Amino acid sequence: MALIQWGPSLEVGIEIIDVQHRRLVDLMNELNEAMTQERGGESMGGILKGLVDYTHTHFRTEENLLERYDYDELDLHRREHRIFTDQIEIYQDRFTAGFMNMSNDVMEYMRGWLLTHITCSDRGYISTLKNAGVQ
Ligand SMILES: [Fe+2]
Repeated sequence: MALIQWGPSLEVGIEIIDVQHRRLVDLMNELNEAMTQERGGESMGGILKGLVDYTHTHFRTEENLLERYDYDELDLHRREHRIFTDQIEIYQDRFTAGFMNMSNDVMEYMRGWLLTHITCSDRGYISTLKNAGVQ
């Protein structure tokens, strides 16, 4: 079973954000599957790198939009993003150095963070972007 099931409750109604969120969900599911199948370090490392890189891409997209439309909670939102990228980069460093393997706890952290962030924090900027005409 997938780690995260995509569904309407995860949509924010802004196309580019939903497309990117969905890709993040796919990448986390892929990493979880690779872990369950006990795939080799190289394969896992590649997926993990893809996830870290794409997380940066997505946060940049979001922050650029929020900056452009003067979202008043931008600083707080940025901070939340940074906490997550710092944490997954630490996991990535440990993994690459061979100190740590992916585990259910790590996957649960990623899943929990993403779901809470999408359904609580991202929800906060919807009206700002929609009122500015972003679709
Ligand atoms: Fe966000």
